[in-house]
Amino acid sequence: MGNKVRAWSITTEAVAAERERTGGKTADVDVSKVIQLDDLELRDVGPSDVRMRILAVSAEHNIDHAATADTVNIAEMRGGRIYPGNSAVGEVIETGANVTRFKPGDVVITHCNGEPDHYGFPLRIWAYDQPESIGWYAEEAVVGDWQLIPAPLESGLNLWEIAALPLRAPTAYHMWRRALGIYRIKVPRERRSHLNVLGFGGGVSELFLMLAKSEGHNAFFCSGSPERREALEKMGITGIDQRQFNRFAAREDVSAFRKHVSSLTGGDDMHLVCDMLRGPVFPAGLAVAAREGVNISAGWQLSQVVEYNSTIMSVKQVTIDHTHYETVQGCEAATELYGSVFRPTIHKEIYPFEELGRAFAEMHENTQTGIPIIRVADQMPDSVKTLAP
Ligand SMILES: NC(=O)c1ccc[n+]([C@@H]2O[C@H](COP(=O)([O-])OP(=O)(O)OC[C@H]3O[C@@H](n4cnc5c(N)ncnc54)[C@H](OP(=O)(O)O)[C@@H]3O)[C@@H](O)[C@H]2O)c1
Repeated sequence: MGNKVRAWSITTEAVAAERERTGGKTADVDVSKVIQLDDLELRDVGPSDVRMRILAVSAEHNIDHAATADTVNIAEMRGGRIYPGNSAVGEVIETGANVTRFKPGDVVITHCNGEPDHYGFPLRIWAYDQPESIGWYAEEAVVGDWQLIPAPLESGLNLWEIAALPLRAPTAYHMWRRALGIYRIKVPRERRSHLNVLGFGGGVSELFLMLAKSEGHNAFFCSGSPERREALEKMGITGIDQRQFNRFAAREDVSAFRKHVSSLTGGDDMHLVCDMLRGPVFPAGLAVAAREGVNISAGWQLSQVVEYNSTIMSVKQVTIDHTHYETVQGCEAATELYGSVFRPTIHKEIYPFEELGRAFAEMHENTQTGIPIIRVADQMPDSVKTLAP
C-alpha cells in the first residue's frame, strides 16, 4: 500500500453532532468543528497516476455545503466520510509508467471534473459526489494524470493567486462563454457591441466580471464587501454596495436597486447577470435584466429553489441558464488566462495547514476579504520559492 499522510475529512457523525448542537440552524454551524484532521492511506501509484505533494489549496464553498448538509448530506451519501478538497497546486513527486505529460519536480494545478459526460461536462465533481474520489486538503495525493494541468508559473501571479483559481476560474470561464453565446444567438455583434454585465459577490462572479472587462464590456460588481469592491474598482469594474439595498430583504429594496441600475446604465439595464447565490439575489438579478438578457448560475448558496414569472421572462425574451463546471479542455483554456485576465483577490491571511478548519469557519461567517488560501507545504520547491512570499 501507499504511504500515510495527514488529510482533512468530514464524517456523518461530525455533521450530525453540529446539527444537534445548533438545532439544525445552518447559519450557526461552526464548520471548524465538522472538518477534522485525519490520517489517510494513499493508494499505490498506478501506470497512469501521479503522486503529488500539495503546496497550497483554496477554500471552496462546497465544503461549507458538505459541513452544514444544507443541500445534500454528501458525507452520508458517500458512506459516512469524505476527504474533501477539489482545488490544489502541487509538486509532482512520482509518476506511473505510462505518464508522459508530467515528471517529478513539475508544478501542477488540478481541475475538479470528476467524470466527463459524452460532451466533456462533469457528470460528477471530484472529492464531492464522484464515488471513491479522495480530495486534496492533504499533504499528498495520488491522482490520474488526466486530472492535472501544468501550473502557469510565468503568468505573473504569485502562488497564492494561482491556488485561488483551479476551481473558480473554469467555472467562471464556462459561464462567461455560455452566457455570451446565448445572448449572441439573440442579439448579434452587428446590432450591439458593448454589453452591461453584472455579478453578485463571490470569487466566481469576480472572475466572470474580469472576463467581461477584458473583452471591453461594462462590468458591475454588487457585493457587501468594501474590500472586494475596491479591488475590482482598480480594474475598472464598477462597485455597487449590496448592503445599501439591505441584501434585497424586501420588495422595496429590489425596486431601489432597479432604479439605481437603470441610472447607472442609462436605462439599458444588464444584458448578462452572474448569480451564484440565488435566494434574495435571484429576483434582484431578474429585475435588472435587459430585454434579451441572460441570467446565469452555477451556484445555489442561499437557496436551491427559485421562482419567477414565466410570462414576464418570455415577454422580455430573458434566458435563465444553469451550468455546473467546465469540460477538461475548457479548464485548460481557462488556465491560459491566469494573470492576463484572472487576477483574483486573496484574503489577507494565508492560513497554515493545521488551521484549515478556521479558514472554513471564517468563510461561513463571511468575514474574509478575498479568496481564502491555505499553505500546505512548509518547504516550497525552488521553482516557486519567489512566488510564495
Ligand atoms: N458549480 C460549480 O462548479 C461551482 C464552482 C464554484 C462555486 N460554486 C458555488 O457558488 C457559490 C459561490 O461560490 P464562490 O466561490 O463564488 O463564493 P465565495 O468566493 O466563497 O464568496 C461567497 C460570497 O457570497 C456572498 N454572500 C454571503 N452571504 C450572503 C448573503 N446572505 N447575501 C448575499 N450574498 C452573500 C458574499 O459576498 P458579499 O458579502 O461580498 O456580498 C461572498 O463573497 C457557492 O455556493 C459555491 O458552492 C459552484
